[in-house]
Amino acid sequence: MGNISVELFGKKLRNPVMNASGTLGYGKEIERLWKISLLGAFVTKGLSVRPHHGNPQPRIWDLGYGMLNSIGLQNIGIKRFMEEYSQFFRRRRTPIIVNIFGFTEEEYFECARVIGHTSVVLAIEVNLSCPNVKQGGISFGKDPEVVRRIIRGIKSETDIPVIAKLSQEVKDIVEVAQAAYEGGVDGLTLINTIPGVVNDGGKFIRGGISGPFLKSFALKAVYECAKRLPIPIIGAGGIMNANDALDFFLAGAKAVQIGTATFVDPNTIPKVIKELKRRYKEGRWKRDL
Ligand SMILES: Cc1cc2nc3c(=O)[nH]c(=O)nc-3n(C[C@H](O)[C@H](O)[C@H](O)COP(=O)(O)O)c2cc1C
Repeated sequence: MGNISVELFGKKLRNPVMNASGTLGYGKEIERLWKISLLGAFVTKGLSVRPHHGNPQPRIWDLGYGMLNSIGLQNIGIKRFMEEYSQFFRRRRTPIIVNIFGFTEEEYFECARVIGHTSVVLAIEVNLSCPNVKQGGISFGKDPEVVRRIIRGIKSETDIPVIAKLSQEVKDIVEVAQAAYEGGVDGLTLINTIPGVVNDGGKFIRGGISGPFLKSFALKAVYECAKRLPIPIIGAGGIMNANDALDFFLAGAKAVQIGTATFVDPNTIPKVIKELKRRYKEGRWKRDL
């Protein structure tokens, strides 16, 4: 099998494949099917200063062209995650990317403080698509100045590499990425879900759309940002198989994240890793046309 290890933020990863935040829980759950140590890195679900219950069921809908989720950022809180789970990943020799969010700028900084310094954490991934409660609920990631400030503030709290995770729901994603870069960000994850609404038996529910519908938007974001910024980019959005992953690598991504595909087939991630190794060994790091 081909060696598809990559270097990210000065650390060697087994391979460039990760789960997307929020799609593999806290990591232990999937081990009934496959070992978490197969991953290049594990990405946590979004964690915040205080725990959240999330929204009532149902919380995911199959749209045919993708999925809409309305999880409501359910999580156990960053402190509890670090105390109860970091040892599990250390034993598995699997680096963690800790995904954080806040409802105020201060909450983002507090998350970075709680993580502190620990070698098992490869990076902090900052979900900037959250509503800013002090600014009428407008998402932080929509304002380049706010993005620059949040990244700069997090960087001053930690020496762990910081990744900005951006949404396509902005006028110009390259402008927002540039602002994150000016704030000192070390990498980008492109992209988060796109907001949508589903009609659930007459009840209209807001959520984020993921899956195949997202792929072209995500690929464009990766392609445009990789041309302009000298930092590693992690591609996410509608990656369902190895061909999709290769499109992202060819567009300039250093690594990829797989989310919705796991809901279709929980073995997608091991299958994609195996297929990428096979193609690499055959000397063709290119997609089947
Ligand atoms: C059920 C579900 C939960 C998610 N939770 C989070 C989250 O907590 N934080 C975050 O930054 N992104 C979250 N996302 C977005 C994914 O990490 C990813 O960016 C997006 O789904 C696009 O990838 P995909 O098309 O492969 O799913 C979630 C997505 C899904 C489907």
